[in-house]
Amino acid sequence: MSTPHGTGDPSGAGPQAAAQRHLQATAHRHLWLHFTRMSSYAESDMPVIVRGSGQYVYDNRGKRYLDGLSGLFVSQIGHGRAEVAEAGARQAAELAYFPLWSYAHPRAIELAERLSALAPGQLNRVFFTTSGSEAVESAWKLAKQYFKTIGQPGRYKVLSRDIAYHGTSMGALAITGLPGIKEAFEPMAPGGVRVPNTNFYRAPDFVSGDVEAFGRWAADEIDRAIEREGPESVAAVFLEPVQNSGGCFPPPPGYFARVREICDRHGVLLVSDEVICAFGRLGYYFGSQRYGYQPDIITFAKGVTSGYSPLGGMMVSDALMEPFGSGREDISGFESPRRAGRAGTSGPSGTATFLHGITFAGHPVSAAVALANLDVFEKEDLLANVRANEGAFRATLEKLSDLPIVGDVRGDGYFYGIELVKDKGTKQTFSDEESERLLRGYLSPALFEAGLICRADDRGDPVIQLAPPLTCTREHFDQIEQILRAVLTEAWSQL
Ligand SMILES: Cc1ncc(COP(=O)(O)O)c(C=O)c1O
Repeated sequence: MSTPHGTGDPSGAGPQAAAQRHLQATAHRHLWLHFTRMSSYAESDMPVIVRGSGQYVYDNRGKRYLDGLSGLFVSQIGHGRAEVAEAGARQAAELAYFPLWSYAHPRAIELAERLSALAPGQLNRVFFTTSGSEAVESAWKLAKQYFKTIGQPGRYKVLSRDIAYHGTSMGALAITGLPGIKEAFEPMAPGGVRVPNTNFYRAPDFVSGDVEAFGRWAADEIDRAIEREGPESVAAVFLEPVQNSGGCFPPPPGYFARVREICDRHGVLLVSDEVICAFGRLGYYFGSQRYGYQPDIITFAKGVTSGYSPLGGMMVSDALMEPFGSGREDISGFESPRRAGRAGTSGPSGTATFLHGITFAGHPVSAAVALANLDVFEKEDLLANVRANEGAFRATLEKLSDLPIVGDVRGDGYFYGIELVKDKGTKQTFSDEESERLLRGYLSPALFEAGLICRADDRGDPVIQLAPPLTCTREHFDQIEQILRAVLTEAWSQL
């Protein structure tokens, strides 16, 4: 949850200071920040970010910050790309809006084709949304309706992992594994079941020395949960390629292969929630490609537009689409030019309607922006940049392991979590009071003041989360390391 940031007191007498005071007063009077204890700003300013350029953003005092979190795991190509903004503006002038309810528009068609060509296996169908929560919500609804349509109406439950975040709308919240953000909204939609996550740093003793045994155990817990619930009642398993919440838990070797096998054995759908992990975060267009598994559905959002306009969606396999038809009987002979030579272009034949829709989903401006965003990915070979530099990013962050407060540095690609501990030897974590004092009281404002945007989070054990733009290079990694070193050293001395 967010915390006050010391943005200073613009108490000067000039017109600029007056404008800042007015903006702050207006924000304090009218704006409600998300996941934010608003009372914490009672005595301090809210940070106001006014512009971005490359890997940096600037506040209304002109101060520069390295965007170590890509906003919120969003700004893959970095800030201030005129060509992407202009693609949106051109589209707004040509066709600002039309719904995808019974109609199509060219940018949604082009983007659906392009995403199908990038996605693994036979994920050839794109259902657009405006956000990640809606994508997750849509995937669960599709799973439920799909099973009802094919004569397995008892399948409605969804498995997901402890501490995993899958969104805030009521369906997505039921899949989310964070009790602290759910309690206020109980009762949840029925059917959410929790299984262990893949935090190897905190693995149970009997598998703590062997990452492969840990992975087998964690996957088999999914098997046991399905058996316990009754396989005929389970619709889907929702997993991120690398779980974000809790501080970047990559999958142990063999984990996803085993999960895939378990899902197949029980007839359960595997949904890869790639709202964070798609679009280069792990050096591939989709996180499942990095770890070599084939999902039945991929949910995405965030990086698909790098935030130049909101968009999300789910990609669905041909098999899942079967009961819903193709909209055209003769499509089986059609091969999309971008998918030429790849499997899975035959057209499904059912007549069911997916009873779900969202007014702004696949918005023309957002679809145009997504296409321009993908052009930047291609032109600058951003995936190659991540793969070439991820080793340097890891090595730079691992230098911090010499600090007494750094317990674990983990992640892949441009996606890292640093777990903070009170005692490295015993892995003892902080009490709630210490965590409150450390994260909210000191770390968040201090990191911001030092010019680094990242996230100090204690929804699991306390972690610093990092996910910089995919254009970052060693110079940015060094800056991140230097700021973290100074602030974490000071934090330790204050404990
Ligand atoms: C894995 C995952 N799923 C779903 C969501 C929800 O996305 P949104 O905030 O766009 O609704 C998030 C957001 O961070 C996420 O990280």
